[in-house]
Order: sequence, then C-alpha cells, then structure tokens
Amino acid sequence: MIIAVDGPTASGKGTLARALAGHFGLPHLDTGLLYRAVGRQVVLNGGNPDSETDALAACNFPMDLLNEPELRSEVTGGFASRVSIHPAVRNALYERQRNFALQAGGAVLDGRDIGTVIAPEAEVKLFVQASVEARAARRYAEMIETGRTCTLKEIAMGLKERDERDANRKDAPLRAADDAIVLDTSELGRDAAIAEAIELVKRKIS
Ligand code: DC
Repeated sequence: MIIAVDGPTASGKGTLARALAGHFGLPHLDTGLLYRAVGRQVVLNGGNPDSETDALAACNFPMDLLNEPELRSEVTGGFASRVSIHPAVRNALYERQRNFALQAGGAVLDGRDIGTVIAPEAEVKLFVQASVEARAARRYAEMIETGRTCTLKEIAMGLKERDERDANRKDAPLRAADDAIVLDTSELGRDAAIAEAIELVKRKIS
C-alpha cells in the first residue's frame, strides 16, 4: 500500500506521515528533506538557488548531508523552496522518490506532489492543511523550544512566501490530487490529528 501525504509547510504532514508509517508498519520518506539537501548544498557550493544550473549541480549532495540539523532550519526551507521550482531539480530527484514509493510492501511518502506526480496510483492520498495562524504558532513554538530566536510575525511571513512559491510554480505545484482526502489540522492537537489520519486511512482501504 502506498500512502501519499501532501500539504504546505508546518501543516503537520510530516508528523502524520511518520505516525501512519509506524501504525501500518511501512517505511517512510520525507521528500522535503531531499529538496532541503539540494538547497543547503547550493549554498555550500557558493552557488545561487535561483540558478537552475547551480541547483542541478547540487543534486549530487553527499548522503551524510541528510543528517545535518541545519537542514531543518527555516532558512534552509526557504532555499529548498527556491531550488524546487527548477524542473531539472525535480527530474533529478524523481527516480529516488519513485523507487521508494514502488518498493515491495508499500511506503508512506510526504511532500507536495506525492499524490499528483510521484505516486498518482497511491491507494490513499491525504492532503493536510491548516490555517497560516495555526501553522505559524506551531513553527514558532518549535523554534523557541530548539533555542532559535525569531518572531511570530517573521514566521508567518516566511510561511506565506513559501506557500505562494510552492503553489504557483509551473512544475508540480502544491495542490490536492482530485482523489485526495483533505484533513484540516488547524483545530486538532497532535494526538487527535494522528488518530483522525489513521481512521481516514482505515476507512479508505476497508
Ligand atoms: O516539506 P518541507 O518544508 O521540508 O519542504 C521544503 C521545500 O521543498 C518546500 O518549500 C517545497 C519543496 N518540496 C517540493 O517541492 N516537493 C516535495 N515533494 C517536497 C518538498
């Protein structure tokens, strides 16, 4: 069984995808991490994330980079969003994601285009969304907890900017697949959102 979990930044899709993978005993791939690694590698190379040539060269990032804590920062998220616009980058990362989705026994993948491009045949597609206010508040709490300094206003502005870029790019924009189930987590705590996601998957496959 393939479970596709798509949605904007800080919607809770990563948490839900990990929990679904644990519950159904499936391997999980956070595809945003691949784009983050490309964004980070461009910077390490001294390149420009808006240049398709520089971004494509960064797709050869070393696997170790995926474990770097800096990959999780808002700044790297912004670079990831910028490199993800380039069709050559999306192409270069396609095979790895597609192979992960097709492995025997199934998989859970989360990202922006899993249900539309990477695994359109997924048995279950969840599109996770939440208001900008709810997402900004969550991201702010995470940042403070990990000792980073930022303001709620800066976080909300960053999220809106990334939403805008991710949803309006030409190639594989962020959007719910026609057959996706939409789950709004604005009013749900972590445990309630996980329980709801598990229930939706069970209902879909039964
Ligand atoms: O999910 P995330 O915040 O880690 O993703 C970082 C950026 O990577 C996001 O702003 C857009 C890009 N991305 C993408 O274009 N397609 C995916 N499947 C996953 C992420």
